Amino acid sequence: MASLAEIEELNEDAAKKELARLSEVLAQANTAYHGADAPDLSDAEYDALKKRNIAIEARFPHLKRTDSPTDQVGAAPSEGFSKVEHAVAMLSLANGFDAEDIADFDGRVRRYLGIPEETQLDYTAEPKIDGLSLSLRFENGKLVQAATRGDGSIGENVTANARTIGDIPTQIAEAPEVLEVRGEVYMSHPDFEALNARQTETGGKVFANPRNAAAGSLRQLDASITRARPLRFFAYAWGALSEPLATTQMEAIERLAEMGFATNPLTRTCAGPSELVAHYDVIEAQRATLGYDIDGVVYKVNDLTLQERLGFRSTTPRWAIAHKFPAELAWTRLEAIDIQVGRTGALSPVARLHPVTVGGVVVSNATLHNEDYIAGRDNKGGDIRGGKDIRVGDWVQVYRAGDVIPKVADVDLSKRPDDAQPYAFPTRCPECDSDALREPGDAVRRCSGGLICPAQAVEKLKHFVSRAAFDIEGLGAKQVEQFYGDKWIKEPADIFTLKEHFGTGMKQLKNREGWGEKSANNLFDAIDEKRKISLSRLIFSLGIRHVGEAASNLIALHYGTWDAFDAAMQAAQDQEGAAWQDLIDIDGVGAVMAGSLVHTLAQPAERASIDRLITQLDVQPVARPDTQGSPVAGRIVVFTGTLEKMTRAEAKARAERLGAKVSGSVSAKTDILVAGPGAGSKAKKAADLGIETLDEDGWLTLISDA
Ligand code: IVH
Repeated sequence: MASLAEIEELNEDAAKKELARLSEVLAQANTAYHGADAPDLSDAEYDALKKRNIAIEARFPHLKRTDSPTDQVGAAPSEGFSKVEHAVAMLSLANGFDAEDIADFDGRVRRYLGIPEETQLDYTAEPKIDGLSLSLRFENGKLVQAATRGDGSIGENVTANARTIGDIPTQIAEAPEVLEVRGEVYMSHPDFEALNARQTETGGKVFANPRNAAAGSLRQLDASITRARPLRFFAYAWGALSEPLATTQMEAIERLAEMGFATNPLTRTCAGPSELVAHYDVIEAQRATLGYDIDGVVYKVNDLTLQERLGFRSTTPRWAIAHKFPAELAWTRLEAIDIQVGRTGALSPVARLHPVTVGGVVVSNATLHNEDYIAGRDNKGGDIRGGKDIRVGDWVQVYRAGDVIPKVADVDLSKRPDDAQPYAFPTRCPECDSDALREPGDAVRRCSGGLICPAQAVEKLKHFVSRAAFDIEGLGAKQVEQFYGDKWIKEPADIFTLKEHFGTGMKQLKNREGWGEKSANNLFDAIDEKRKISLSRLIFSLGIRHVGEAASNLIALHYGTWDAFDAAMQAAQDQEGAAWQDLIDIDGVGAVMAGSLVHTLAQPAERASIDRLITQLDVQPVARPDTQGSPVAGRIVVFTGTLEKMTRAEAKARAERLGAKVSGSVSAKTDILVAGPGAGSKAKKAADLGIETLDEDGWLTLISDA
């Protein structure tokens, strides 16, 4: 590559050619930048090319291209960032919507910890900032890494960009050796308005709301763009720490403020739910004048020892909740109702609306849930909306709550056109013409076509490659649709034979618009990389009805390996017997989910498709965290009688964190019985079977070093 000094030597013709080349190379780096582990260009090379482009343009301003890379805003693909594995997962928050939800939250916390009503329990309350979360890692007081949340365990490395944000110190005087500060990147209202005005003037991308603007500005491959954007940051939490920050949430936040972080001035401690809700009202009253977007108030247990004891559910902490502000509303015309067929065959009616702004976002599609909802009935035959049905042409109310898909909430009958007809919900699948059936008690009408229905097959594939599932770089929903349309991929297993299939015929892919040799090879590499897959991701990716991400985790944790899981599902097929009982005994797995699992895995077509997939994969057994050196890892523990130092739920969660399996009944397989006062038949059975029995103190001593 020519050095910057050589630019002085360039003649006009050569400069023009070079600008054309740079524009192409940089555009390619932006769009076809698949396979982050073997990127076309390193970040440094990318930056150098961009600088070179700027320097040539500075010398020959009249040669600047209309598609100049200097002006490319928001074109940075996520593939351009390297990945960062979070030392401590970045989780989300459970939501509450009214005072009752908050009282329930307090009740749950107290029950879990065994704290009676009479004992005061403090919480903090602070605004929930509507931005994007960022984790900042400091080592010996120096900012060494900044990462976005990503999927919660792996985020994007945006260190260079974070360094440009004024509210983020890059050097802290007195800090623990390792300190991960977490908080929210956001953009203020005035800065957002000014940015959009500038963007309009320069023909750049105009952002829908401050959050999108903040996200688009932080996630720039070129940190000089981020620097030019007025981003701000509030610190409100932490990840890995080499020593505790404080003993309470409030003191920890104060410490972060002393270290030089911006913390939210509306943070308070509150003694219980009524004070929390009172502070919510105070914050809500100031919402419009704060100068930045907030979408609720976050409550956290103040005592950090109690936070530690409460721990986490699969994706949210037990010690915090977000009290969300009510949703935003608007009225508009319903122009059409379309039916979409989902991966489990569900026919979902979608409202096509005359575009309307709801809480700063333009909405033109909204969900209508199901046929009863359109008809004004609930699924038990009762009325909703006072029995008013919804018709094409109606004036409807659109409702939007944060990230939730907008929905049509109400209809204004006084504005109904005279010729509006009641909506006739289809009884055949609009995609494959199979019968669309409703099971008794099910609100949803489903296509009976199974895998022969192209819509179901494609949706299943899209789910399979989605972020929480196989997450294959370069193979997103769009590519899946394309490949399915070309009959290159009909089922998940085909993804893994794509390369063989094309072997020499790879030309076909290469000749496709948007695909070159490099990107095709990157895709094959990305696919190969995902052959090694965790059991929980695999279970989730199968797209079985009712089996979500959290449940897949629990199931994977329970069975440990694909073979054990698969054998158990086959053994539980009849929905009775020990294997079935063992499945529904998993905390968080109910009979409906269990039924869906065993039923789906026993369907011959589905079964064959999964078997073909498994031969392509290297399914990783569950790596059980934090159990190294744990004296109870892999052992089956039963708790009985009254526990005095912890509640049953807490004891169970802690044992599971240490790798033990907690069971409800004593059998020959039980390794340890922990018996508190009042233990009855279980203690006797354990004694008869010669099972090791401990009292609560004995148990605590056993696990104390773990
Ligand atoms: S605490 C373990 N506090 O809301 C969870 N989150 O809906 C720690 N957020 O992912 C999060 N303001 O991005 C917390 N004051 C606040 C917040 C806040 C905004 C975001 C955060 C989180 C999301 C969950």
